[in-house]
Amino acid sequence: MGRDVIIACDFASGKDTLAFLDRFTGKKPFVKIGMELFYAEGPQIVKDIKARGHKIFLDLKLHDIPNTVKKAMAVLSRLDVDMCNLHAAGTKAMMEAALEGLTRPDGTRPLLIAVTQLTSTDEQRMKEELLIDASLPDTVMHYAENAKAARLDGVVCSPLEAAIVKEHCGKGFVTVTPGVRFSDSAKDDQARITTPAKAKEIGSDYIVVGRPITQAEDPVAAYERCVKEFCD
Ligand code: C5P
Repeated sequence: MGRDVIIACDFASGKDTLAFLDRFTGKKPFVKIGMELFYAEGPQIVKDIKARGHKIFLDLKLHDIPNTVKKAMAVLSRLDVDMCNLHAAGTKAMMEAALEGLTRPDGTRPLLIAVTQLTSTDEQRMKEELLIDASLPDTVMHYAENAKAARLDGVVCSPLEAAIVKEHCGKGFVTVTPGVRFSDSAKDDQARITTPAKAKEIGSDYIVVGRPITQAEDPVAAYERCVKEFCD
């Protein structure tokens, strides 16, 4: 498995997304489709982007009873996406059911990645609202181990956590890391950030990059800069 840069296409409409992707003549970046775009446009936007030859990470973060997630994952696998995800908080039983649903009749399936604790959740809220007494890093690592035990492919985590996740779960356990910024660009609302070069050094497999590419004056140049720093 090679390292790759995934562009977070956080646009409100399919029209804006396709216009953005039109700028990448001859290149087919790996694309992340999130809830906003999927709920606005439905499965057709996935089919349209796939038909253009892009790999797709469908970031819908499923979390429900195992049977419901299993059936939903079976539908997503028919969309021919390359990666999808769920919340590890749904338990090992839910993750195992998801994997079963995702596996196509020919035995192939998209990569399945677990969200541990959202980066918007801090330790105080976790303790006070969710009544989880363990530390945040211990919770993240425990959820990653649950995902590994359920035979998922990896987790979404901060690039700063990628090395320790691999230490606990093995080198082949995939780390998908948002929170990436160039050394000379705005942090926006991201707190725990790192550069593409540093993410490579720490051992991320995939970096998810949104605004540093989508809002750049020259998005293609920004994407190429990411690829050069992270993949070469
Ligand atoms: O624009 P930016 O590079 O911050 O976009 C990062 C993308 O990764 C967004 O789509 C965001 O929702 C997603 N993400 C994140 N942190 C997580 C999980 C997902 O930033 N923990």
